[in-house]
Formats: sequence, structure tokens, C-alpha cells
Amino acid sequence: MTKSTENALHDCETQMHQPSVINQISELRKHLSNIRRQSKTIALVPTMGALHQGHLSLIQTAHQHADCVVASIFVNPTQFGVGEDFDSYPRTEQEDIEKLASEGVDCIFIPSAKEMYPTGFCSSVDLQGPARELETSHRPHFFSGVATVVTKLLLSVMPDTAIFGEKDYQQLQVIKQFTRDLNIPVKIIGAPTLRETDGLAMSSRNAYLSPAERKIAAQLYAQLVNCEADLSKNQSWQEVQRKAITNLTQIGFEVDYLELRDSQTLNLPIIGNQRRLLVAAKLGKTRLIDNIHIPAAS
Ligand code: PAF
Repeated sequence: MTKSTENALHDCETQMHQPSVINQISELRKHLSNIRRQSKTIALVPTMGALHQGHLSLIQTAHQHADCVVASIFVNPTQFGVGEDFDSYPRTEQEDIEKLASEGVDCIFIPSAKEMYPTGFCSSVDLQGPARELETSHRPHFFSGVATVVTKLLLSVMPDTAIFGEKDYQQLQVIKQFTRDLNIPVKIIGAPTLRETDGLAMSSRNAYLSPAERKIAAQLYAQLVNCEADLSKNQSWQEVQRKAITNLTQIGFEVDYLELRDSQTLNLPIIGNQRRLLVAAKLGKTRLIDNIHIPAAS
């Protein structure tokens, strides 16, 4: 390496922006009020860590919408049920901080469970509408846990915008609905799902898949795409659904649901042709979810 390359690299390293890492809500509020005093806008990207390229694309979207980007890392216990993967959920805090620093995040909020749920904590957000059925039929505790923690994060950061991935499509619709219903002054932005080259949606939980399961996992998306093709040929939804569930079951998936819903309300019947196809299925011990937009029926 020449001296000038070495110097350039050194300059680059020393110039890399180091985000503030904050563990307490009071300190976070103080830090952000200084930023707001400079008339800067703030975007929040809530995460549970174990960051992959999909999360980093949310950060990139956040930069397009605000002057200052805050990311949170918190594996939220209240959205996991008994027997789910709270204990084994991947925790990679140091790597996450480095990834967020290289994406130019200004501030990383990493609260403890005690900070978010101090002794005596006993409130939660109650949901209906898009929270009904789908995930809720299989994980009844899930959206109340998500909505409660997201409310606390939004009220701690008070961002202008908050970014959530479309990979968790029902979660995105639930968050849009309750922030609107509760008059939380934030714009919720959905960002597209990032996929591996074989189509598997990026997810922290993909790390649980064995090499053999990883090869099969891409079929989840492939079946969604097949459904879209069959629907475009005007095949009946019941027939398309039956075929896709049979295909997935034959290759080793245990399908929780495969549903075609109204893309905003997630209800049936579908109003105005805006459709979303959503799937959740287990492969061994790993539960995967995915969804795609289905164009209007001709
Ligand atoms: O999508 C997630 O990672 C989580 O559900 C969220 C929104 C960070 C809340 O814990």
C-alpha cells in the first residue's frame, strides 16, 4: 500500500461519523432536543438488531426523508409469546453499531428491558382493524407488544417520520392505523422488501435455517410469484391457494396461512382491487413470512 493510499484510508476512517449511542430515554430526549433546536428533521428506524442489508436499506430511505437518522435496537420481550425465540433471537450489538455508523446514522438508542418496562409497567395498546387474523391467529400477543413498544419509541424520539419494512406488511398496516387513530404526529413510511438472489426475503431469522432448509426457503417467494401468475390468468383464488399450499407442504413447509387480502385494511372482501398476498409458514423450527402486491384483476 502506498503512503498516500494509507493516508487516504486513515482520513476516511477518522472522518467516519461516530453515532451517539444512548441507553436512556431522558438522555435521548436531551440529545434530540438539541438537534431539533437546529431546525433539523428526524427519522426513526426501529429495529431488533441482527442487522442485515434489508435494515440498512431502511436507514438509506430514512436519510431521504430527514436531516438526522435515529435507529433503535431493542429485542422487545412483549412481542414474543411463550415458547417463541426471544432467548435465541440473534444479538449482534457491536456489529450492528458498526453497520449503523457506516450508514451515517446520527444516534443509536439501545435501551435495556428495564428502561422500556420499569417495575410496575402495566399498559398496552389495544388493536383491532388490520391487526385481526393473519399473524394474530398464530401469535395473539404479537401486535399488542409491537404497538406498545413502537408507541414508546415514537414518544421518546418524536420523529417526523418513521420507516418500517414491507416485509412485515401486516405490522406496517397496524402501525399506520394506530398512529393515525392515536394522533401520534409522525409520518409512517413503508420501504420495499430486500431479497436474496434466489428471492428469499431478507430476515434476521434466516440465520436459523440449516443449509438444506435455506435451499428450500426460496420456494416461499417462488410460490407467491406462481400465485400471482395464476391469478393473472383469472384462475379462482380458492384453486390457486389450494395448489400453493399443497406445493409448499410437499417440500416441507407447514403453512400457517396464505391469504389474499385488501392491501390496506387487510380485510375481506377486497375493496377497489388493491390486493396483497401474505404468507407465513414454518420450515423446521424457523417461521418465515413474506408478501407481495397483486396487481388489479383485469
Ligand atoms: O419489525 C421489527 O423489527 C419489530 O417488530 C419492531 C418494529 C422493531 C418492534 O419491536
